[in-house]
Amino acid sequence: MIKLLKTFSLRSRIIIIYVFILGAGGLITSLIGSIIVNKAIMTQAKNKVHHDLKTARMVYDKRLTIIETAVYLGATGNTIQQAMKSGDNRRLHSRLTQIAKDSGMDFLSITDDRGIVKLRITDSPTVGDDVSTISVIQTALKGKIAAATEILPSQILANEDPALAEKAVIKVIETRRAKPTTQEVETSGMVLIAACPVMNEDGQIIGVLYGGYLLNNNFQIVDRVRELVYKGDRYQNREIGTVTIFLKDLRISTNVENSEEKRAVGTRVSDEVYQAVIVNKQRWAYRAFVVNDWYISEYEPILNYNDEVVGILYVGVLEKAYISIRNRVIYTFFAIASFGFVVIIAISYLITRSITRPLSEMVEVTDLIAAGKLDREVKVKSKDEIGQLAYSFNRMVTSLRKMRLELEEWGNTLEQKVKQRTEELAAMQNTLMQSQRLASVGKLAAGIAHEINNPLGGILVLSSLVMEDLKSDDPHRENLLEVIKQTMRCRDIVKGLLQFSRQEEGKTEYLNVNDVLSNTLSLIEKQALFHNIKVTKNLNPELPSILGDNSQLQQVFMNIILNAVQAMDDVGELTINTYHDQKNDMVVTEVSDTGCGIPDELIDRIFDPFFTTKEVGEGTGLGLAIAYGIITKHQGRMTVKSKVGEGTTFTIKIPVVEAVRQS
Ligand SMILES: Nc1ncnc2c1ncn2[C@@H]1O[C@H](COP(=O)(O)OP(=O)(O)OP(=O)(O)O)[C@@H](O)[C@H]1O
Ligand SMILES: [Mg+2]
Repeated sequence: MIKLLKTFSLRSRIIIIYVFILGAGGLITSLIGSIIVNKAIMTQAKNKVHHDLKTARMVYDKRLTIIETAVYLGATGNTIQQAMKSGDNRRLHSRLTQIAKDSGMDFLSITDDRGIVKLRITDSPTVGDDVSTISVIQTALKGKIAAATEILPSQILANEDPALAEKAVIKVIETRRAKPTTQEVETSGMVLIAACPVMNEDGQIIGVLYGGYLLNNNFQIVDRVRELVYKGDRYQNREIGTVTIFLKDLRISTNVENSEEKRAVGTRVSDEVYQAVIVNKQRWAYRAFVVNDWYISEYEPILNYNDEVVGILYVGVLEKAYISIRNRVIYTFFAIASFGFVVIIAISYLITRSITRPLSEMVEVTDLIAAGKLDREVKVKSKDEIGQLAYSFNRMVTSLRKMRLELEEWGNTLEQKVKQRTEELAAMQNTLMQSQRLASVGKLAAGIAHEINNPLGGILVLSSLVMEDLKSDDPHRENLLEVIKQTMRCRDIVKGLLQFSRQEEGKTEYLNVNDVLSNTLSLIEKQALFHNIKVTKNLNPELPSILGDNSQLQQVFMNIILNAVQAMDDVGELTINTYHDQKNDMVVTEVSDTGCGIPDELIDRIFDPFFTTKEVGEGTGLGLAIAYGIITKHQGRMTVKSKVGEGTTFTIKIPVVEAVRQS
């Protein structure tokens, strides 16, 4: 069972358990409830029947009392005594008829002091018969009033009134579950009978007045009881309450109906009831099958004057009516229970859903996360444990997302860094190539310069000596002056070559680049070359110091500034910027001009020794080569950017020296 349950989803599991517990609990409760309800209703029905039987008995006894009272009043009244004494039968008859009529008696007769009937109110021709065998009359003959239920044989009834004997006849109908019998017709009559002695003035009994009421086929008592107790209540067109008077076990007066909806007179009580009530003289209360239906019934014996059981008084209510009430109560009970069950299941469904939905959402989101999608979050707003779980879950997703972003960014910057490094490496390689080129050219140049330097010195000394010997108007003097001038120019070139090739360490000191620049400018600014040049200086005063050779750096700046001015053809704008590149910790100098610019195909060659675009005699092409060498020696870098027609910018970066900054 538990194994099977585990194959269901969490929600189904909870609901199945709910249904099981509620269903089992509800069923047990309903069953117990039904049993209690059934018992309560049936007990109530039994109590009611018991009470109804008491009422029936009261009505029955009252009827007997009426007869007894009427007989007593008649017997003790003057009219009857006097009429008897005087033998006035006519008067006696009229009085008796009056009494019988008033009290509803079926017969009323008078005997002499031995129990021989002297007068009857009925049209019966019979008189002179002996009725002293009847218990109550026997008692009256002894001077005592008596009243009781008695069974009178047909003959006695016929003596009283032939019509009465006829009325008493009941055909015995074969009844299921009754005691077997061979009797086919009942001719005896059950009567309520009372007898009272009639006495003369001396107190001697002169006769007995007795009268009675036949119960066979007489429905007054039973219908009166029903009217009193049940007020005509019906269930499915049947009387709910029924009352019966039995002569022994035979129905002689009843409102129980047979299948033809006629009074079931002639049917008999079940053997079971017969044994209990008639044989054992007991009350009997239980459900009983009466004629056609089950009744909740109670039977009690009817005793005669001698306390012998002569009949039964019965009251019953249709069990169906109570069963219907009981069923209605139970159905209502079940309906309410089922409704509650459905409501609870619905509520539990909603509650379970509110619990499991965030969980399944989390499962869904987890799947998405596994697939690499981190943009979903669980939407739970409750503050319970589920809400907390969802909150933590969302936090986890957020931090995962952040981590992924960081990773991605890191990947991106890594790419950038690799690119930057590659560029740097390429630049370094360039520089290295440049340096190698310069080094080889430098060696060559140094050799040549050295060789040329001495002859040049000779030429100069000798030319100068010849010059001194020449007269001032000598025509060769001008040519010789030209020789000396050109030789001096050669000496300058050789000097430059030597300087380039020597790569001297120079004299290093802490320098402020701004100062070096200002000094350089002040040397050349005054020259006619600068007249139409606008010089703009943006020198950062917070510039840290560098370590370098002042005159070498002056030479570098001088060459760059002169190149710029020459490129502008003496008209334009020269801008000089300095600043501290904090990231690389270098002092940066930018020299920009608005000159002719350098074509792309030449820009790689401008640092080569002897590369010049200037006319012969104007430039040696060594300026930038020397400058490059000097800056490299200062652990610095020198770059150029140019656009033909717009201008050129040279950038020089020299590292900052820590110790100097602190001083
Ligand atoms: N600012 C500039 N604008 C345009 N071209 C430039 C600039 N600076 C340098 N050049 C080019 O670079 C060449 C080499 O310059 P470099 O200073 O090495 O030699 P030079 O100026 O020609 O001769 P020298 O410096 O010996 O007088 C120049 O001839 C010129 O063509
Ligand atoms: Mg130059």
